[in-house]
Amino acid sequence: MQKNIAVIRGDGIGPEIVEQALLVLNKIGELYGHTFTYTDVDMGGVAIDKWGDPLPAEMLQKCVAADSVLLGAVGGPKWNDVPGDKRPEKGLLRLRAGMGVYSNNRPAKIWPQLADASPLKASIVDKGIDFIIVRELIGGIYFGSHTTEEKNGEKNAVDILQYSESEIERIGRIGFETARKRSGKLCSVEKSNVLDSSRLWKAVMHRLAEEYPDVELSDMLVDNCAMQIVKDPSQFDVVVTENMFGDILSDEASMITGSIGMIPSSSLGASSNGLYEPIHGSAPDIAGMDLANPIGTILSAAMMLRFSFDMPAEADCIENAVSAVLDAGYRTADIYSDGCEKIGCSEMGRRILENMRKD
Ligand code: IPM
Ligand code: MG
Repeated sequence: MQKNIAVIRGDGIGPEIVEQALLVLNKIGELYGHTFTYTDVDMGGVAIDKWGDPLPAEMLQKCVAADSVLLGAVGGPKWNDVPGDKRPEKGLLRLRAGMGVYSNNRPAKIWPQLADASPLKASIVDKGIDFIIVRELIGGIYFGSHTTEEKNGEKNAVDILQYSESEIERIGRIGFETARKRSGKLCSVEKSNVLDSSRLWKAVMHRLAEEYPDVELSDMLVDNCAMQIVKDPSQFDVVVTENMFGDILSDEASMITGSIGMIPSSSLGASSNGLYEPIHGSAPDIAGMDLANPIGTILSAAMMLRFSFDMPAEADCIENAVSAVLDAGYRTADIYSDGCEKIGCSEMGRRILENMRKD
């Protein structure tokens, strides 16, 4: 197969981690006879510096035209003082909206080799951590209007949180479909004791539940969910939630698996052109030092093969290679524990390549 991938290296550690993921994709190409071509796209701080815009229209166009998009990370302190609508993160939000990728899938799964890296007690980890957060990605408060105005001699800031029934329904369906393919349990997370948008969310989820009698739907308030994730994560299988709650809960969920550096994500809409990115940020403090963990990005490339290119054997090949390297005791600093061997970003990439085999 031939596929064109739009590649956004981005800022901070973005370029180093993406480099390793591209080497892995090239190796898949060699092993399985695929041709991957890459179109470079500037987004984030690097695009602000070069073009004065975090996502120029022609860059978005390249992403929309590609078969899928691989992204490292964007943002950094250098652009902290640029106006809100020109920040690097705004480029990412516009990319997601422009591609129409409303469904963000973030797995929180503990690798058995990394159980020691989890900040939770062994008695909790041993019960198992393997769930998915399905996050609505292009609606809600991140996409409502944001204004700051002078009123009564002081500044007033307003951010609008709005959801329509159809926006809730389409992400709800992804939640139910995902649950159907797993254990058949779906937990809808909201704040319906306070917010109208959450009361609508809950009502739509329950209406949809009638169409999915094989899925057991439960509701949970977001504050309680934040607590339950550290108290007993084994109770969750598929969580479906709105944009901001999903942003926050997915960082929490990743941390209990050992490191945010390990977690990939997929974002999909109506077409197979998806956006694949690790869920961590650009880590400017370690950028360019060859210290970053490339595994989240490499596993994001594996998700691209699985979900957008229908290449499950190729995705397995990458995931098995990651597992083999962890088995052999190699760790980047973020997942290091006593008795392991600490290695850098490029060496982690090289070791994963070495372990890739076609079964
Ligand atoms: C994420 C990030 C982004 C988000 C930021 C960088 C805009 O935190 O992907 O979780 O909030 O969605
Ligand atoms: Mg986030």
